[in-house]
Amino acid sequence: MTLITVDKVSRIYDDRQRKTQVTALDNVSLTVGRNEFLCLLGPSGCGKSTLLNMIAGFDMPTQGTVNVGGQVVQGPGADRGVVFQQPNLMPWLPVWENVAFHLKMQNMGKALRRERVQRFIEMVGLKGFENHFPSELSGGMNQRVGIARALLMNPEVILMDEPFGALDEQTKMDMHAELVRIWRESKSTIVFVTHGIDESLALGTHVAVMSARPGRIRELIPIELDRPRDPTSAVFNDYKRHILSLLRPEAPRPEAINLSHNESHHV
Ligand SMILES: Nc1ncnc2c1ncn2[C@@H]1O[C@H](COP(=O)(O)OP(=O)(O)OP(=O)(O)O)[C@@H](O)[C@H]1O
Ligand SMILES: [Mg+2]
Repeated sequence: MTLITVDKVSRIYDDRQRKTQVTALDNVSLTVGRNEFLCLLGPSGCGKSTLLNMIAGFDMPTQGTVNVGGQVVQGPGADRGVVFQQPNLMPWLPVWENVAFHLKMQNMGKALRRERVQRFIEMVGLKGFENHFPSELSGGMNQRVGIARALLMNPEVILMDEPFGALDEQTKMDMHAELVRIWRESKSTIVFVTHGIDESLALGTHVAVMSARPGRIRELIPIELDRPRDPTSAVFNDYKRHILSLLRPEAPRPEAINLSHNESHHV
């Protein structure tokens, strides 16, 4: 069942400094089914954040429409939780208060807020750290706080913009396992922006490969790999070669590229 429909969306920015226009997205159409985990993959500047922001309702298309759950998106809503590259936590508040941020905005009392957040703190593996402050946590733990905050509103859709970009490889792999578990447990739908091919193949039920300037979807690839994903498997590397050939059509034929198994490719 389709949950998100991006229909012939273009986004043209006015570049006032240079008195010109930038086509960030050109006639992009895409559907995301309920419970899917879609990775938006593409090089820097291809319009990934622009597309995600329009699904989030932070920005509006110049042409076309975005529809979530049968409603045309006209602004942010509680049905969509957003996780940014930096978790943007409030350093003066302990973990649990950071997670409970939206509830405070709704004027919910402290005791009830404290009770409500516990499930989500445990879901992201932060039990025991409820009263720690962000400065006392690692980058990965801070990112988990951001994820718990987004999950708290029980959104149908979780939108994530390169949330693990600043993490080391090991922590990133742990977070991938955690996120897949959360996605299954919360039965949510995820749209995840990344420029890492391995990351998209570690996570997605689908990978939308985007091309740069003007941003378009080159191909929407369903990923039929068992979980946990094995980046050393032959099928994983078949997908990887295919994605590389889409991203670098001018590069040598994919067969000629010698891929070392543990090498991480970024675009
Ligand atoms: N507010 C803005 N005003 C003018 N141009 C913009 C604006 N936001 C984005 N752009 C342009 O639109 C294009 C797409 O930007 P976007 O941030 O969506 O790319 P991205 O794929 O998320 O890149 P990255 O991987 O570096 O985050 C870029 O060429 C960028 O310069
Ligand atoms: Mg971006």
